[in-house]
Amino acid sequence: MATINDNYLKLKAGYLFPEIARRVNAFAAEHPDAKIIRLGIGDVTEPLPAACRTAMIQAVEEMGDRDKFRGYGPEQGYEWLREAIAKHDFQARGCDVDASEIFISDGSKCDCGNILDIFGSNNTIAVTDPVYPVYVDTNVMAGHTGEANDRGEYGGLVYLPISADNHFTAEIPPQKVDLIYLCFPNNPTGAVATKEHLQAWVNYARANGSIIFFDAAYEAFITDPAIPHSIYEIDGARECAIEFRSFSKNAGFTGTRCALTVVPKTLKGKAADGSDVELWKLWNRRQSTKFNGVSYIVQRGAEAVYSPAGQAQTKELVAFYMENARIIREQLTAAGIQVYGGVNAPYVWVKTPNGLSSWDFFDKLLHACNVVGTPGSGFGAAGEGYFRISAFNSRENVNEAMQRIAEKFKA
Ligand code: MLT
Repeated sequence: MATINDNYLKLKAGYLFPEIARRVNAFAAEHPDAKIIRLGIGDVTEPLPAACRTAMIQAVEEMGDRDKFRGYGPEQGYEWLREAIAKHDFQARGCDVDASEIFISDGSKCDCGNILDIFGSNNTIAVTDPVYPVYVDTNVMAGHTGEANDRGEYGGLVYLPISADNHFTAEIPPQKVDLIYLCFPNNPTGAVATKEHLQAWVNYARANGSIIFFDAAYEAFITDPAIPHSIYEIDGARECAIEFRSFSKNAGFTGTRCALTVVPKTLKGKAADGSDVELWKLWNRRQSTKFNGVSYIVQRGAEAVYSPAGQAQTKELVAFYMENARIIREQLTAAGIQVYGGVNAPYVWVKTPNGLSSWDFFDKLLHACNVVGTPGSGFGAAGEGYFRISAFNSRENVNEAMQRIAEKFKA
């Protein structure tokens, strides 16, 4: 019989969001009349911007024309999209990122996992706690960890606790780590990192030969002009950081699928023989072998994000969700619940009231208010006692959910 990758057997329960869906579905089956409002998974609800739709429709028409039809595209993504990204997302902010260093993909989640293909198996890996579970689970699957303990912490990983005490931004560890996952604006806590904080990480990474995986999927939600949007706004980041970005949240592409990863040509890793190897070459080789690119139609839709109409429409979309975040923050605060985040990020990180555990609060909200959120403990042991509420939903649903919570929790 064929053998399996035993590392999968180390994974704790199901992936967080399918597990929540399973519990919600069971509740819905027992209470068919309950109007459940889902503020759990960070999935967008509002329609795609008109500029993106128009561009995609035109691309579909081109695909129906023999002269304009396109087959395989470049595995790295079309040049016109990479140029638009380099110009608008990076060069406009003073970041030295060239279009050739940008790789278009079908999602940041996939890229965050796939990037491990080009790294060795003996690296020391640091993650924050709480953390976006994909960073941890993909390392478990790749055999980079030991077994999980009772708290769900995997042997071999370095956990960097984040809490209100350190403004939900990880402190620099005393020991040397090789790979570091940083996510700002942060999922799940909604925290952001200052330039000084990121500079400290970049300095640490350069001093230790480490690589930072910088997940900037939520950068469009930053409202404070002093907060950096890209790690490449930090001096020296080209020598130590890979950045992940996505069209999922700013342009509503969660179902359409388009993202990007930046691998600067100045980044190096160590080969077994001690030589320095360009990571760009390895990622380019990996993508060319295992990936055939994002569809032409979707890339045209993503390109339209950078048109004047697309810029205005995505800004409006982001502002819409951020107004939801404001409502959530204010309503929960008025109900006497302590909240964090939600100012520069579409996630509100809630301290569970009355000392309830994360899953007990989940059950209480589901049963008493028919509202779904995400238990903080699902993001790591240090998330226990917290709960994440996503601002991705219609205004009507957010208002109703907050009203139901206020009624139950107001003293
Ligand atoms: C989340 O809810 O954390 C998101 O769905 C993350 C993602 O985009 O994968």
